[in-house]
Amino acid sequence: MTVYFPHPRTPGFIQIHRHDAAAVRAELAAGLLGPVACTAPKYLYDALGSRLFAAITELAEYYPTRTEAAIVARHATEITATLPREATLVDLGAGNCEKAARLFAPLQPERYVAVDISVDFLRDALQRLQCEHPQLELLGVGLDFSSSLTLPADVGAGPRVVFYPGSSIGNFTPTDALAFLRQARDAAQGGAVLIGVDLVKPVSVLEPAYDDALGVTAAFNRNMLLHINRLLGSNFDIAHWRHRARFDAGHSRIEMYLDALQEQRVVWPGGERLFRRGEAIHTENSYKYSALAFEALLLEAGFSRIRCWTDSRNWFAVFTAQASA
Ligand code: AVJ
Repeated sequence: MTVYFPHPRTPGFIQIHRHDAAAVRAELAAGLLGPVACTAPKYLYDALGSRLFAAITELAEYYPTRTEAAIVARHATEITATLPREATLVDLGAGNCEKAARLFAPLQPERYVAVDISVDFLRDALQRLQCEHPQLELLGVGLDFSSSLTLPADVGAGPRVVFYPGSSIGNFTPTDALAFLRQARDAAQGGAVLIGVDLVKPVSVLEPAYDDALGVTAAFNRNMLLHINRLLGSNFDIAHWRHRARFDAGHSRIEMYLDALQEQRVVWPGGERLFRRGEAIHTENSYKYSALAFEALLLEAGFSRIRCWTDSRNWFAVFTAQASA
């Protein structure tokens, strides 16, 4: 007797144009030397930062992750009915790939492409997924799509579902979000997008979500200085920095800062900055939309047949929109 085993699939991995260390240092130094010191939110995510963010999603105050999951779980059939079948599911900022994996059953994608800033973040998750889904074609792509979303040809032909969950789009200014959505529309190759967007709500809900009682978000924010010390060779002392989050209604965004608790000189190879007591480093913006404003943005980006699902409190919205006319 001959027993035939199906050809075992293994995930593919590619890393696109990783910024070299010198470019990262130049970008960090330029931000720190601005009139208001600032840093890009991607530097929040070293290994510990990614774990702290995962812990944030478990906090009572941080509603976006569980609200989005509840919307998707409740309306999975309706949501996936608006998306192309047997398409390539492209997951932007995939991390542990947990959210996308929950779409496999209702969406039945032919191929799953996990994109994150470093392909190394994706290896374990994709190996595990392959065991659970031996017939699914899996590809991990290391790509920093925050400045430009150009997927490699390896992602393949045919319509795609571009999945951008978690309201990560809130890290872009509305102008940059529009440019990003236009690129996402191109990347969908006639398919569709599935995007999670955090909505405007009372400050009494928004601010605690970004300044929780346990101090996990504070640790997440302050940990960025340790990451920057390693990348830039700087000497930030985290004991001298305090986390602050505030909602700016004018910009409709949560702003996160690190405030200097005392005057200090921070030095790194080739540069330095004196921070006065109370001077801030602006570390993140998280824009909040009305469902109408985000729909308008999708229309302006060229999408059609826009659909929106929300929760009973109207705290979070999940959109699908078609890239084709
Ligand atoms: C991952 C960008 C969606 O803005 O809510 C959570 C990041 N920062 N707590 C957000 C974050 C502080 C998060 N995003």
